[in-house]
Amino acid sequence: MTYSTHEQLEQSLLTCAACPLRQSAIGPTSYNGSPLSPLAIVGEGPGGVEDEYGVPLVGPSGQLLDKALASVAITRDRIYTTNVIKCRPKNNRTPTIEEGEFCATAWLDQELTFVQPKVIIALGSVALKYLLSPTARITKDRGQWFTTKYGIPAIATYHPAYLLRLVGKDLVKAKWEVYYDLKAAVEKCQ
Ligand code: URA
Repeated sequence: MTYSTHEQLEQSLLTCAACPLRQSAIGPTSYNGSPLSPLAIVGEGPGGVEDEYGVPLVGPSGQLLDKALASVAITRDRIYTTNVIKCRPKNNRTPTIEEGEFCATAWLDQELTFVQPKVIIALGSVALKYLLSPTARITKDRGQWFTTKYGIPAIATYHPAYLLRLVGKDLVKAKWEVYYDLKAAVEKCQ
């Protein structure tokens, strides 16, 4: 299905029941921030808090993301934030490549076509695999620019949920890497 406006697309998303993921979710999650932004963040999919509120990255991962963005002097209201997967997989399991393809082909592709950001940040492995290639690896490919099928440059960085599991030197190193990735993305928009 194709839509004539971003708003129409988002209205329709709210009633989507095209795959089994919808059965265990409260409902599909939409986007937050500005559809006019030159910068888009694409996350994995909703967790429990996002499922409850219907918007992406507002739980613990989202709060850490906000802090990381503050370190490069940008706030979420100036960014378009969305996910590859719109419905929370049961027990927060990682969505499969096939689930990502099915959902993103229906929604994310059109969303980004309407928003036309100048730069995309792929947040974590699921977004990287959808936007670059199913064989991409976050440990190998993060921090490197690639061109998405939309013709828009993208950079991948670690998902904040990964940072939340790290401690000590590993955490410090990963935080710096995220900082440099976000800084590169913000600078490329200017
Ligand atoms: N993780 C994501 O990638 N997106 C969300 O919306 C929540 C957690």
